[in-house]
Amino acid sequence: MPDVYSVITEADDAVIERVAMAMETSAADPQHEAMVADYLSRLDPSDRSRVVEIGCGTGAIARIITRLIEVGEYVGTDPSEPLLERARRFAPGGRLRFERADGADLPFDDASFDAAIIHRVLSHAPDPTAVVTEAVRVLRPGGVLAICDGDYATTTVALSATDPLQCCVAAFTPAFVNDAWVVRRLSRLATEAGVERLQVRSYGFVQVHDADYMLSIIERGAAQLVTTGTIGPQLAAALTGEAQRRVDNGIFFGHVAYGSLTATKPRMQPRSEAGKPQRARRESNPRPSDP
Ligand SMILES: C[S@@+](CC[C@H](N)C(=O)[O-])C[C@H]1O[C@@H](n2cnc3c(N)ncnc32)[C@H](O)[C@@H]1O
Repeated sequence: MPDVYSVITEADDAVIERVAMAMETSAADPQHEAMVADYLSRLDPSDRSRVVEIGCGTGAIARIITRLIEVGEYVGTDPSEPLLERARRFAPGGRLRFERADGADLPFDDASFDAAIIHRVLSHAPDPTAVVTEAVRVLRPGGVLAICDGDYATTTVALSATDPLQCCVAAFTPAFVNDAWVVRRLSRLATEAGVERLQVRSYGFVQVHDADYMLSIIERGAAQLVTTGTIGPQLAAALTGEAQRRVDNGIFFGHVAYGSLTATKPRMQPRSEAGKPQRARRESNPRPSDP
């Protein structure tokens, strides 16, 4: 079964509500804000006038970013209209703009933005190469690309090698993550898209007492095990109950490793690119500076 985010336009209301909650819950953890603050620290003030976020979901990262730094114009894009509807509702004072778009086919001119953010999207998008290529296309020369994602291949809730809770993570990952290894290819994706001055960082996200997000992974994994007929509802309830017991007793451990990459679009076009036709603007989709 494909990652629900990679087929998000087909998701029903219940699925949208569940993933929207999960996005908001994990972004609300201060550890998440610290990661965003770290990669934003690599943007100069001149990179902040026009910012595009690709795969913004409910706008949780948009709200963190615009709280942390002054942004002239912020455009969040996502293929899912129900998620964008939440993003518009949650954003304070209509300062942020949200538009429907697939990250592999952005409705913006070449060189329209100073910075492009791709946060927790490449692990879900069916074609990460196309998304990064589009992000670089819409960046102005000298603009900054910032990518952050989970290294879901190493997500753990296990306290030992034989901990049965880890089965929930094993079931969660293929159902909710298209590419659990993509963080390890960020440098390659960025280099092939033509950016330079790459900086890569890693972060740990750990939950022990306040474990809402990690518990949502266990719940979704346990539900997935029931859906596939691997276990019955009684065992699923026992697994989620065990996770809650650990949280209540302060002995839970849930960890997701994240990675970020920032890079700059060269000011000079490589010789091989010079003379290539630029992509035409689509009249039905106004420039971000249009009203
Ligand atoms: C885990 S959510 C992350 C949302 C938000 N960036 C955040 O971190 O809270 C993954 C997002 O990727 C979006 N997505 C999936 N495929 C995409 C694509 N091809 N282009 C752009 N976004 C995509 C989904 O709609 C979803 O909003």
